[in-house]
Amino acid sequence: MIKGLEDFTPKYHGIFETHAHFGDHVFDGDREELLSSLPKLGVDRAICVGYDLPSSEKAAEIAGRFPHIYAAVGFHPENLHEYSEEGVQKIAKLLDNEKVVAIGEIGLDYHWKEMPPELQKKAFIRQLELARERDLPVIIHAREATADTLEILQNFTDVRGVLHCFSGSAETAKIVTGWGFYIGFTGVLTFKNARQPVEACTVVPADKLLLETDCPYMAPVPWRGKRSCPPMIQSTAERMAEIKGVSPQEMIDIAAENARRLFGIK
Ligand code: NI
Repeated sequence: MIKGLEDFTPKYHGIFETHAHFGDHVFDGDREELLSSLPKLGVDRAICVGYDLPSSEKAAEIAGRFPHIYAAVGFHPENLHEYSEEGVQKIAKLLDNEKVVAIGEIGLDYHWKEMPPELQKKAFIRQLELARERDLPVIIHAREATADTLEILQNFTDVRGVLHCFSGSAETAKIVTGWGFYIGFTGVLTFKNARQPVEACTVVPADKLLLETDCPYMAPVPWRGKRSCPPMIQSTAERMAEIKGVSPQEMIDIAAENARRLFGIK
């Protein structure tokens, strides 16, 4: 039995999980079991996302072992202790692996105030340039840094990508989807106090929506507080479907098609 899924019954099929941290130590006890059982739990595809060099190498390694798992590699704004041009070159090398389909997660996070904003902007811009050079999508983390994120992204509207775990306003969602970016929603969409994400989800065109967990974090209701994992997306999909006025299976299919288009996966 997979931790957190004691009361779980799969209701849908074809879920594309666009943001999971399977390398996290909380999956050490049952990672193989979880990953190999995803298809029978309704999850067809998943992207394992790195946040520094070791986690990116691990994401690529995990993706290499499971046909339905892909990887994203990059330096997250809170994990820049080891950031250097040499590190960027090592990330670039990982992109040669055909299961590595995106650069991420990258971005700006001014919440914890540990990493200087100037360093964060430098790393973000450098990795956006790499995405442009390699013609690969980016997975963007933006927290309490809307103005600087928009200022940087307006110069990279030729790069495709997703603003993951979106917590911004409807206004911001309109601007970035107007530039062609996708928006990913986690279990936060199901929370009682989710007024802002719900408003944002309302204005995002259906062909720009992605489903994700950001597991092991952000488990949706009714699993809130448990270790999150991809099958739980079914509850986020139900909420998103309600907001967009389609059935949950239709929502899952639309979001999966969006993910395949963005990440170039068949
Ligand atoms: Ni993440």
